[in-house]
Amino acid sequence: MLSVEEEGMLAYKTPKRRYCAIVLIVLGFLVFFGIGILAGFFIGRGAAKGCEDGDKNGGCKPPPKGHTQEQLEEFHRKAVGMISTEELRKNLKHFTKVPHFPGDTENFELAKDMAKKWKEYGIDVIWKNYTIMLSRPKDMKAGEAALYNGSTLMHRSERQEAFLVPSENNSNVVPPFNAYAPSGSARGKLVYANYGRDEDFEELKKRGINCTGKIVIMRYGKVGRSTKPKRAHKEGAIGVILYMDPEDYAKQGVDMVYPDYNWLPNSAVQRGNIKSTPIRGDPQTPGYPSVKGMYRLPKEEAKKLLPQIPVHPIS
Ligand SMILES: *[C@@H]1O[C@H](CO)[C@@H](O)[C@H](O)[C@H]1NC(C)=O
Ligand SMILES: *[C@@H]1O[C@H](CO)[C@@H](O)[C@H](O)[C@H]1NC(C)=O
Ligand SMILES: *[C@@H]1O[C@H](CO)[C@@H](O)[C@H](O)[C@H]1NC(C)=O
Ligand SMILES: *[C@@H]1O[C@H](CO)[C@@H](O)[C@H](O)[C@H]1NC(C)=O
Repeated sequence: MLSVEEEGMLAYKTPKRRYCAIVLIVLGFLVFFGIGILAGFFIGRGAAKGCEDGDKNGGCKPPPKGHTQEQLEEFHRKAVGMISTEELRKNLKHFTKVPHFPGDTENFELAKDMAKKWKEYGIDVIWKNYTIMLSRPKDMKAGEAALYNGSTLMHRSERQEAFLVPSENNSNVVPPFNAYAPSGSARGKLVYANYGRDEDFEELKKRGINCTGKIVIMRYGKVGRSTKPKRAHKEGAIGVILYMDPEDYAKQGVDMVYPDYNWLPNSAVQRGNIKSTPIRGDPQTPGYPSVKGMYRLPKEEAKKLLPQIPVHPIS
């Protein structure tokens, strides 16, 4: 449904965002990515051991060059057969137990942990240091979005999700934010633009709704997270709010959600990067590895490549 402008005003605030160069220690690995993930993350140690012995068909080794379709299928069957649901569950729990923000100690610990696991599986691991311009809320302060009818506050977004499972109560959980959105605040009327696709903005135009000077609220989904604010900005928006609609993220109904089901609960907020630069990777070293000694764009130059209007995710 595409609605018209909401009544009332919307004030919107983000605290100062800190752009900092964080030394990120990244793992390199020498096998191709897909198999690295499968073997490293998901299979049990027993299965990995089995590979060492090999068998008549080459065991876990990649098929030889010039392999037949049959051989490929056999290899695929073997790879799929090695994936264990139990290991998936265990590993996913393990890797998501605590927040591990890039550059944080927890992230480094996780990298060390993964390196150890891969080595156990017989995969070569190399370490490389990258210095990357990242974005995170300064002092872990949360932004917020508030809806006013005249001067009456109608709704204010939560600064933190509910802890639905006791072990999730961790002060290192980064508050809701969209990485690389600039610091700032915006105040204006609210326009709902569905998924923020081209056709959604076309529909708004057809209905004579002008986004210039407005705050555009869009739901996540259908198109990439970063394209929505970019498109809204192009239409003249001064701020963006993103949220997850139960229609997309609680398909069995709003009561059938985490922790009992795998749909998103009411309080959940999707974080995520909204950088939409032509070249992926570190904004200060576009197209080049962000290693020591590499030429870096000045921070102010790099920021020009990043989103230009405040963007904030809500539940
Ligand atoms: C990467 O940086 C860390 C921390 O600064 C340092 O201890 C380590 O020796 C570096 N590793 C490499 C491979 O340069
Ligand atoms: C907003 O305020 C006006 C005037 O006080 C009132 O008539 C209207 O019903 C309010 N709108 C909502 C959605 O509460
Ligand atoms: C989370 O932990 C803090 C500090 O231990 C405690 O004060 C708070 O009540 C906990 N909140 C929930 C919802 O369990
Ligand atoms: C939208 O509003 C802006 C500012 O009021 C105006 O400059 C622009 O022409 C409007 N666009 C359309 C299509 O009416």
